[in-house]
Amino acid sequence: MVGLGWWGQKIVRDLTGSQYLQVVLGVDPDKASRERVEGLRTAPAYEDALADPAVDAVILCTPHKFHAEQIVAAALAGKHVFCEKPLTTSGDEARTALAAVAAAGVQLGIGHERRFEPAVMRLRDQCRAGELGTPLVFEGNFSQDKFLALPPDNWRLSDRDAPVGPLSATGIHLVDLAIALFGPPVEVWARLSTLATSFANGDTLTVTMGFEGGQTALITAILTTPFAGRVAVLGSRGWVEIRDRNHPELPRGWDVTTVHRGAEPVSTFYPPHPSVRENIERFARAAAGEVSYPVTHEEMLANVRTFEAITASARSGRVEPVR
Ligand SMILES: NC(=O)c1ccc[n+]([C@@H]2O[C@H](COP(=O)([O-])OP(=O)(O)OC[C@H]3O[C@@H](n4cnc5c(N)ncnc54)[C@H](O)[C@@H]3O)[C@@H](O)[C@H]2O)c1
Repeated sequence: MVGLGWWGQKIVRDLTGSQYLQVVLGVDPDKASRERVEGLRTAPAYEDALADPAVDAVILCTPHKFHAEQIVAAALAGKHVFCEKPLTTSGDEARTALAAVAAAGVQLGIGHERRFEPAVMRLRDQCRAGELGTPLVFEGNFSQDKFLALPPDNWRLSDRDAPVGPLSATGIHLVDLAIALFGPPVEVWARLSTLATSFANGDTLTVTMGFEGGQTALITAILTTPFAGRVAVLGSRGWVEIRDRNHPELPRGWDVTTVHRGAEPVSTFYPPHPSVRENIERFARAAAGEVSYPVTHEEMLANVRTFEAITASARSGRVEPVR
């Protein structure tokens, strides 16, 4: 486990007792972070993990700006690599990282655990099977107020280290789900504001994504409103809305409304599910050659290219192509 901050510590806890992988080493240059994790061998430098024969794979839970170089270093050391989102913040970096992984023949995983939520998996099956008719529009909102507790100089509030803060914090998960549904987008329009905090990288983001087939995704991510999580797909014959009861840090289940033309709405509750752990276990099983991993390199690259276009649009105020 590389990076023993908020999310790294959560993953260490989540993976306790996993039958598919064991966390054998924690890496963090920060002594206090290393000391916060009990019962785990730790080291200060990433190279310690890469040189360790007991390490088959690294899980990167580090600031975004390190992801690309750390993926390349893992691939060169012959280690499988699971990287937290965003994979990288520029398309060029993503291409370099993906090429290194492909050349080394190692498995790459990405921290888009929402794909492993049972209600989302069911929704994707319904879309594939045509149960909603033709999927037309994706709507999503992933907002939270956890960053209000961070000191103002934290990297997650920095315009340089985390450009378009609400995007890399939460919105990027919705970008991933929209790409999983409609494929790579061709253009985006984004509006980023700082309305109710002093966050240098914004607190309020809305994005419109346009897809080649004419479909649209509407995404909202706010970092100063209490938790709100909602995903909906509207189709030509019906629609589904998933409401999250809590942040993925501590899932409390999902309330799903399904509507088919001519029928009464149906409400279903999906109980809590450990999607973060399941994503990483799936990565481990894929690395062992047992199963395939559901997020393709093409989708990972499309996500970063979209990230780049959203960042450009937030700065220019214009519709920007996804290059
Ligand atoms: N999938 C999710 O839902 C989810 C949720 C939260 C965070 N994340 C992602 O996890 C990553 C970390 O976010 P966080 O909120 O835990 O940040 P954080 O600041 O709490 O933790 C990052 C840790 O990395 C350490 N670090 C810095 N440079 C390092 C290096 N070169 N090698 C090893 N460790 C280093 C820091 O000392 C710190 O302890 C980000 O990419 C973030 O987007 C994903």
